[in-house]
Amino acid sequence: MSSAPSARDPRITEVLRGLNSRPHALNPKWFYDAWGSHLFEEITRQPEYYLTDCELNILRMHAEAISKWMGPGVVLAELGAGNGEKATRLISALKSPRCYVPIDISSQSLQSAVDSIRQFKPGIEVNPLCLDFGEGFLWPDGLPVGPRCLVFMGSTIGNMEPADAVLWLSGLGAHLNRTDKMLIGVDLKKDEKILNAAYNDAQHVTAAFNLNALAHLNRALGANFNLALFHHESFYNPTYGRVQMHLVAMADDIIRMGGQELSILANESIHTENSYKYDIKDFQTLTEAAGFRVDAVWVDSRHWFGLFGLVTSGDSRDD
Ligand code: TRP
Repeated sequence: MSSAPSARDPRITEVLRGLNSRPHALNPKWFYDAWGSHLFEEITRQPEYYLTDCELNILRMHAEAISKWMGPGVVLAELGAGNGEKATRLISALKSPRCYVPIDISSQSLQSAVDSIRQFKPGIEVNPLCLDFGEGFLWPDGLPVGPRCLVFMGSTIGNMEPADAVLWLSGLGAHLNRTDKMLIGVDLKKDEKILNAAYNDAQHVTAAFNLNALAHLNRALGANFNLALFHHESFYNPTYGRVQMHLVAMADDIIRMGGQELSILANESIHTENSYKYDIKDFQTLTEAAGFRVDAVWVDSRHWFGLFGLVTSGDSRDD
């Protein structure tokens, strides 16, 4: 990267605040530079990482029912559309979707989503929206009339703290009207061995993805992490019902960035992400706390993953 950012760079202040806390923590957004996004796609192709396959199987197995539930000529908006890979599968499962609104923070990803959908389904109207869905959502103007469904796949909701997921969902709900629907993919609780294997793949792609967050800090903020001193650790924590991802220091290390220093001791870890797993009942409770009602749940044959069909339950929203 170019010249080193100054100590007053708000990104450095934020990163140092997390790294100086106990346990040390780092915001998972640092996973995602171009290389991180590439590694993330690779994770979803690892045989141990069952989530993507399960979700696609549900879409295929229950295509008819999901399509019927959404209604004909649906306007689909996808939060965190990425390269549009999930959408092509979703759209091929649906009867006659009218319009697709991919939403992503990365304009590069959005462009590839638009290109792949246009190529895959030339007839569909595509209306991309470049924004950080974590900050909220508003339907863009000028969409065709028809039933609307907001889609959030990949169990990304599991990467939020449950209390934050409730707040975020209720924020979304405030912009949905009574006929709008939401389809959310959620990873379900299961045998710990399967969960542990999924986040510790044999090809070490998840490890490389996790470590790339430090490489990203080195590149973007001029930090000096020695990647060889850290190793990937991830495990299911049954107390919290979540897989935790950590980077564990193998020796004492002094990290410098923006003219400041912090020390990380051998065996201390930097907590990089959580992936919460839910029971159907737990997730239902969560969505109800956010003002939604579970209208339908579709699961795969092993009951490893759920697609939840939500409708708003409040009557204070306008149409
Ligand atoms: N939401 C998915 C999950 O929790 C994908 C994901 C997000 C992920 N961050 C990750 C997978 C970090 C592996 C590592 O599994």
